[in-house]
Amino acid sequence: MTLRKDFLWGGAVAAHQLEGGWNAGGKGPSVADVMTAGANGVERQITDGVIDGLNYPNHEAIDFYHRYKEDLKLFADLGLNCFRTSIAWTRIFPKGDELEPNEEGLQFYDDLFDECLANGIEPVITLSHFEMPYHLVTEYGGFRNRKLIDFFVRFAEVVMKRYKNKVKYWMTFNEINNQANFNRDFAPFTNSGLKFTDSDNREQVMYQAAHYELVASAKVVELGHQINPDFEIGCMIAMCPIYPATCKPEDMMAATVAMQRRYWFADVHVRGHYPAYLKAYFNRKKFNLDITDEDLSALEKGCVDYIGFSYYMSFAIKDQADQTDRVHLHGDIDEHGYQRELGAPAFDYLEDSDLVKNDYVKASEWGWQIDPMGLRWSMSWFYERYEKPLFIVENGFGAVDEVEPDGSIHDQYRIDYLEAHIKAMKDAVEFEGVDLMGYTPWGFIDLVSAGTGEMKKRYGMIYVDKDNEGNGTLDRSEKDSFAWYHDVIKSNGENL
Ligand code: BG6
Repeated sequence: MTLRKDFLWGGAVAAHQLEGGWNAGGKGPSVADVMTAGANGVERQITDGVIDGLNYPNHEAIDFYHRYKEDLKLFADLGLNCFRTSIAWTRIFPKGDELEPNEEGLQFYDDLFDECLANGIEPVITLSHFEMPYHLVTEYGGFRNRKLIDFFVRFAEVVMKRYKNKVKYWMTFNEINNQANFNRDFAPFTNSGLKFTDSDNREQVMYQAAHYELVASAKVVELGHQINPDFEIGCMIAMCPIYPATCKPEDMMAATVAMQRRYWFADVHVRGHYPAYLKAYFNRKKFNLDITDEDLSALEKGCVDYIGFSYYMSFAIKDQADQTDRVHLHGDIDEHGYQRELGAPAFDYLEDSDLVKNDYVKASEWGWQIDPMGLRWSMSWFYERYEKPLFIVENGFGAVDEVEPDGSIHDQYRIDYLEAHIKAMKDAVEFEGVDLMGYTPWGFIDLVSAGTGEMKKRYGMIYVDKDNEGNGTLDRSEKDSFAWYHDVIKSNGENL
């Protein structure tokens, strides 16, 4: 037996990607509600409010808001003992800055969690999963504004008090480190409600917003433990390990620096202080950040209990100087005003442009590199570094599924992906001694893709009849992976 006896086997989703009911029950618009459908290689548009005639796939999503009772039965049939979802902030505080919560929204999650528990399924809750109130963007500039700390803490306090006897496992900000990719609009907007102007120093704004989020998270961790000392409250990191493309020392150093830029968020969440490498970076860049002594003390007092993380793929990097023939070039400025030093000694990293293809692994149709060993490596890295329990709260394979004339769906490719990753995860437990709490594959019921807004990029073991244009009956059916995952759970992973 390699896995814990009480291992949490589940599935993961986020409110905005499955609930729909975007303006039902007093809910306000969130950042997800102003994002149109994109496609493979076509970015989603972020519109100024909801514009008539455009396709906003999250508005209806898969209508879980109205169908959750039947869906929960199906989840129980699948054998899940936990269900990771998020609480849509805008159901509770439609605009985000109100003093009083919306009772109808609170009641919805009461009913949902009761239904989970009645089906023997433990809710695992993310407080902020790419769905902050849009009003906080237009009125306050999102998390670039310190006031957002209090708004978030108020929201968290209300829901933690309300559900303190129904929910034990919490996470604060989903994939908080996506915004390390600050030159794209998607991650800063979905993580932090940031919309940039041309005069913004995007990188500095991102660090400021992330700092406020980390303070808000730490305050919520401290408060949550007061509300119920049994709460386990984690962070949530998007883990894509960055390998050096070769064993050339400069590639190794470039990978080390790139890892620092992507994972410092976890250092602060877990250790409660800023790492030396980041302080040195802030000094060199002469960032003018609002970080007070009180903030630093809040960070120290609010260290997370566990590390929740997603794992889909690995990345690789080469020394930039090597790629461009420009060594020690100071003052390299890109179109967003980002200034960096290429190559040694700084090895400044730009996620948007610096990653290279890894020829040792294959990729999905969406270009996501498939690398089960990278999951074991990631678990090992996290555990070695932090010695805190880990929870794999997302993993999965986005693919196009074919429905056979008899309605069956033979998704062996998904089974292959998941099986290889579960085996790698067991190896990390067995060979590296990692303490792993659970595993919740992403989008185990088909839902709207966050990155592209498509339905066609499916992760599910449960099929949902809906296409990219919004057509379909929304009926649910089992894919081959459904029975397969059921058996994996039943054997606590021993059948693999
Ligand atoms: C993670 C997110 O980035 O990956 C999810 O936490 C998201 O919200 C998932 O859906 C898969 O990404 P995508 O773009 O394929 O939906």
